[in-house]
Amino acid sequence: MPIRRKGVLVPGATGALGAALALRLHEQGVAVAVAGRDRSGLARVSRACGDAPARAFDAYDLEQCARTVTWAAGELGGLDGVVVCVGSSAFGPAESVGDAVAEHLFTVNALAPMAFLRAALPVVEPGGVIAAITGVVVDSPQAGMADYSASKAGLSTWLRAVRREQRRSGVTVLEIRLPHVETGFAGRAVLGTPPALPTGLPVAEAVDAIVAGLSARARLVKPGRDAPLDIER
Ligand SMILES: NC(=O)c1ccc[n+]([C@@H]2O[C@H](COP(=O)([O-])OP(=O)(O)OC[C@H]3O[C@@H](n4cnc5c(N)ncnc54)[C@H](OP(=O)(O)O)[C@@H]3O)[C@@H](O)[C@H]2O)c1
Repeated sequence: MPIRRKGVLVPGATGALGAALALRLHEQGVAVAVAGRDRSGLARVSRACGDAPARAFDAYDLEQCARTVTWAAGELGGLDGVVVCVGSSAFGPAESVGDAVAEHLFTVNALAPMAFLRAALPVVEPGGVIAAITGVVVDSPQAGMADYSASKAGLSTWLRAVRREQRRSGVTVLEIRLPHVETGFAGRAVLGTPPALPTGLPVAEAVDAIVAGLSARARLVKPGRDAPLDIER
């Protein structure tokens, strides 16, 4: 696996997907550094990952996001990858979503992941990877989720442009464009209530695909025709 030499930083490791990903990487022998907002959740995931280095951050502090990358490279003796699993949702028609909520979504879902990955670009080892979770709303923006959809689309566009910039650098840019996953994410929305959703993918299946994408140096994980998730190189 190209991420085995030094290790991987997982910002958002206190969330359902981030914690499961950090643990899976740890179980596969990859050194991980974990970062999250909730300090007790962070201590839990660090312990589960063999007392992995852990650091708290808030997505609103973009400089702190960038500094967390430098910190992780110091802790792990370098960085093979950064996989941003941070995110926040809100529901309701656009006219019911105030500017403060819109700013929140764009900060947590776009600016903070960009700050982590921007800082990672000069730091990750040749052959390394930068990655973030977007969502299927990038392809199919949903009514009642205009601001969430737009924030994820912004991150997706940024990742695609950076991939072009990095063509000759040997750094892989992976976008993880997930469908609904059973994490309870929508229930933690900062505004509104989610529509009735069909049963989502199990967390383990999403993590399988993310790890496969990292191992294959893929550029995209997304819903497939024949499988719930496809890996595109
Ligand atoms: N679950 C789905 O159906 C689904 C589908 C498509 C895409 N996604 C994306 O997958 C990613 C992970 O979501 P999840 O399902 O694992 O949900 P989750 O368990 O709610 O995880 C969200 C993560 O974001 C962090 N976060 C939120 N606001 C933050 C802030 N202001 N500062 C720092 N960290 C903050 C949370 O940190 P704390 O726990 O420390 O507060 C947590 O680690 C998100 O980007 C989400 O948009 C999820």
